Amino acid sequence: MNKTILCIGAGYVGGPTMAVIADNCPDYKVIVVDVNAERIAAWQSDTLPIYEPGLKEVVERARGRNLFFSTDVVAGIKEADIIFVSVNTPTKTFGAGAGKAANLQYWEKTARDIIEHAESDKIVIEKSTLPVRTAEAMHRILQSNTKNLNFDIISNPEFMAEGTAIDDLQSPGRVLIGAMEDASGQKALEAVADIYRNWVPEEKIKKTNVWSSELTKLVSNAMLAQRISSVNSISALCEKTDANILEVSEAMGMDPRIGPRFLQASIGFGGSCFKKDILNLVYLCEFHGLPEVAAYWEQVVLMNDYQERRFVKNITSCMFNTVADKKIAVFGFAFKADTGDTRESPAIYVSKLLLEEHAILAIHDPQALEYAKLDLADCEGDISYESDPYKAAEGAHAIAVLTEWKEFRDLDFKRLYASMAKPAFIFDGRNLLDHQKVFEIGFNVYPLGQKVLSHL
Ligand SMILES: NC(=O)c1ccc[n+]([C@@H]2O[C@H](COP(=O)([O-])OP(=O)(O)OC[C@H]3O[C@@H](n4cnc5c(N)ncnc54)[C@H](O)[C@@H]3O)[C@@H](O)[C@H]2O)c1
Repeated sequence: MNKTILCIGAGYVGGPTMAVIADNCPDYKVIVVDVNAERIAAWQSDTLPIYEPGLKEVVERARGRNLFFSTDVVAGIKEADIIFVSVNTPTKTFGAGAGKAANLQYWEKTARDIIEHAESDKIVIEKSTLPVRTAEAMHRILQSNTKNLNFDIISNPEFMAEGTAIDDLQSPGRVLIGAMEDASGQKALEAVADIYRNWVPEEKIKKTNVWSSELTKLVSNAMLAQRISSVNSISALCEKTDANILEVSEAMGMDPRIGPRFLQASIGFGGSCFKKDILNLVYLCEFHGLPEVAAYWEQVVLMNDYQERRFVKNITSCMFNTVADKKIAVFGFAFKADTGDTRESPAIYVSKLLLEEHAILAIHDPQALEYAKLDLADCEGDISYESDPYKAAEGAHAIAVLTEWKEFRDLDFKRLYASMAKPAFIFDGRNLLDHQKVFEIGFNVYPLGQKVLSHL
């Protein structure tokens, strides 16, 4: 087995994952390819295509040594014996399963590229998140080759989270590797485990059958999102009962059976994965004749939609039932802090709903303004994009905090207040700010699941 690794797909997963592998495994040559030439050029430059704390340092250490970025998919397939496939698997927008099932066309295309260009046996690794039993179809496609080559399919889903990708990859909670149970599958599993053994302790390498591995990734995302929807549903009840969601979450999280993480109320989850993976799980349950299970998980997504709509409804009703022609400064557009990614960001939906109400939007985000422009390109209305938060707030009636960027806490709220129309409102969709402090400055403050602090 040669020690060349290929990764097809240089996105949010492929790029950082391979950079960390190359950094930790100097014996391996790692090639990352993508059909998107602009993305590859960015990976080769000083301005990487994605923002992720610590990523630049890792890439700069390995790039040109044993980490290479290229658009030459064919040469990569010929050279490497181990191929990670990390292409996108979005929700299908057409045909059977539209709106729920995963669109596997990009994945299947890479399988066909591999068959066409492979000249030796390969281990093909599912790095993308895929429906359970995808490996079966992929194995069939790959084994249909007429060159008498052997392809082993391994499932090795990625659990890193954007914003903490490098730490997550460097010190993973677990590395999950699923393989077929025959001798060839088990040998391939060990070859993949050998890569991770360069820096991951043996007890963190979890080996399962291929189906368990595929399903674990979908269910992990569904469980995480379910916690967010659960706590968000309770934030609505807190607002009706004077219970405080921060106190409830903290006290609940002290129970070791529950634990403190993922219990922060917010305007909702975003990101490219949670919604699509839950919908995919829902589709799989429906497909396998389990409508009750499907309905249970679908409610997690419906609750997320509700929380976004509820936030906008609250803004409108608190601002005297109209936001028409009122400027609202949107602080944060990325789906979470420490990333420039806006895919499925709640900020997109909140902004669109506010524009439907004829609000004037001034959007500020430390990393995501370019994507925000693309996300709202088709929207009619008065939108400006400001790299300076103080400019965004000038003359505004309200600030809506939509992403939990830490730097928002350190803004000069006296200065912001002085430049805004009065009465000035803050709608804190992340419970990020010091509410008492900004209330004392003069703002009317509307947190989530907590008491309103109003001068009105
Ligand atoms: N983003 C995350 O946080 C995250 C975390 C864990 C798992 N995942 C999963 O990983 C997969 C990839 O996610 P991502 O966020 O990196 O997506 P992405 O859209 O950022 O990257 C996918 C890349 O694959 C490329 N591509 C598509 N078809 C190709 C082909 N035939 N040949 C070469 N390149 C091709 C695209 O051009 C794109 O650059 C998805 O299945 C996702 O669910 C994502």
